[in-house]
Amino acid sequence: MSSELEREIARRRTFAIISHPDAGKTTLTEKLLLYGGAIHLAGSVKARRARRHATSDWMELEKERGISVTSSVLQFPYKGHAVNLLDTPGHQDFSEDTYRTLAAADSAVMLIDAAKGVEPQTIKLFKVCRMRGIPIFTFCNKLDRYGRAPLELMDDLEKVLGIRAWPINWPIGSGPDFRGVYDRRTKEVIVFSTEGDHGETEVGEKRIPLASPDIKSLLSEAELEKLNEDIELLDIGGEPFDLELVKKGQLSPMFFGSAMTNFGVRPFLDVFLEMAPTPAPRQTFTGVMEPSNPRFSGFVFKIQANMDANHRDRIAFLRVVSGRYEKGMNAFHSRLGKEVRLAKPSQFMAAERTAIEDAWPGDVIGLFDPGQYRIGDSLATGGLVEFEGVPRFSPEFFAICRTKDPLKRKQMEKGLEQLAEEGTVQIFQQLQMGMKDPIVGVVGALQFEVLQYRIEHEYGANLTLDRLPYSVARWVVGQPFEAKTFDWDGNRQTVQDRDGLPLVLFRDEWALQHAEEKHPELKFVAQAPQLRGTQFVSVA
Ligand code: G4P
Repeated sequence: MSSELEREIARRRTFAIISHPDAGKTTLTEKLLLYGGAIHLAGSVKARRARRHATSDWMELEKERGISVTSSVLQFPYKGHAVNLLDTPGHQDFSEDTYRTLAAADSAVMLIDAAKGVEPQTIKLFKVCRMRGIPIFTFCNKLDRYGRAPLELMDDLEKVLGIRAWPINWPIGSGPDFRGVYDRRTKEVIVFSTEGDHGETEVGEKRIPLASPDIKSLLSEAELEKLNEDIELLDIGGEPFDLELVKKGQLSPMFFGSAMTNFGVRPFLDVFLEMAPTPAPRQTFTGVMEPSNPRFSGFVFKIQANMDANHRDRIAFLRVVSGRYEKGMNAFHSRLGKEVRLAKPSQFMAAERTAIEDAWPGDVIGLFDPGQYRIGDSLATGGLVEFEGVPRFSPEFFAICRTKDPLKRKQMEKGLEQLAEEGTVQIFQQLQMGMKDPIVGVVGALQFEVLQYRIEHEYGANLTLDRLPYSVARWVVGQPFEAKTFDWDGNRQTVQDRDGLPLVLFRDEWALQHAEEKHPELKFVAQAPQLRGTQFVSVA
């Protein structure tokens, strides 16, 4: 292996932040970029939203709603590391996109609002990380406010998520009584200070060894006693730290802090980068591809069309798995079975694209896509490589799609096709006589709004979406299957996917169960049967 490749792999960390909306993901992301020198002033308080729009929104819709709909990839340097942060949408809803982004990450940071503990969205995203077995780091945020007791938060992780936590640091008080955190590794207290400019700039940390007499100027007798008790409880009651368990995703290093005030962000980042894995090997259909393999290879995990309103373009996001990407190189496109030129690669600092000369394992490059890429596609130099498992998710919300103006039907269909290729929606054809309008299926209901907005703004067709009462989609395999077996009866409907495969949409799990009992000769699967390179998963 070339030593340059070795060096670049060793300094790379690629991760995503998972959280429930409002836990502080945007704030933490900004602070990480601030420490990485990627932005000079992290936005704070009122100016923050305005600035957030300026740097991380691609679509008008995002601006209107103040949410980030598309995932972006941010790269920043920090103490010799090249850090890739895959930004996932943080709104109430979720989409396949969020989950697929996790397929490109090597570790995850689970951000928790200390006042709220583990919330529903966190659980769903956690399950996806679990499935992949990637290391999960926990950051409990908003300690500057009154929150739940830290032991309770640890308990929450174990009971609700089934993962044990190992606190790297431990909070002393919360809200107005928040004094700082005790660093269990250095046996120092990192002092929380409310001075300064509310997190606009980096803060230096004041550290006082717990054994030092100076500690008494910071902590009252009662606080010190409580801290000593807590430490003893953790040291004696807890298990020893085991990095191997962290690497397997079975033990989560836990941190406490306050992203808004910058407190605890740097200590977190330092330890995180020390413990987080370097770019991981990936499974192909013929074996494992190591990052150190000199052959360049990677897979497409996301496709985004029309990111720039001035140029109707489409970008395929490729996670580099092995070797070195060099500008203008050719690679073998496995699905198409031919060499393609990897044109116009760029790296992303939100909406700003920077042309790049080279990229290494763990990096994400955006390839100009004339329509030749699909999610799950593999590219490699030196011949065929096919990566397994960019997951596709079984949709849970369905609607009939019509256009108000029949003359716009073609545009609607073109738009739907495009969004289906991006993986934003899945399209199904109805099989019943006279029912020609397509059904769209999505993983999160917000995708319907995105769909309507984009078809209108990008394809000029107004959509009406009539919601259907189904929540479960299952492909039918095994036996010859007649569509009329499951004629529409209000609880279910037979449809066909874009590849002509039959599936049944059920009102709920109960309706599915009923069908399974009544038709033991049929098999109902959450995964489209013949798709290679994709894997359907249900996370509900
Ligand atoms: P999200 O991306 O996870 O949805 O969360 P975001 O960063 O937007 O933060 C949600 C709210 O929580 C924001 O307040 C933000 O300022 C606040 N917040 C984030 N980190 C901390 C923290 O460490 N301590 C405290 N006290 N608050 C924090 P907001 O009122 O919704 O927005 P804004 O008016 O501050 O822009």
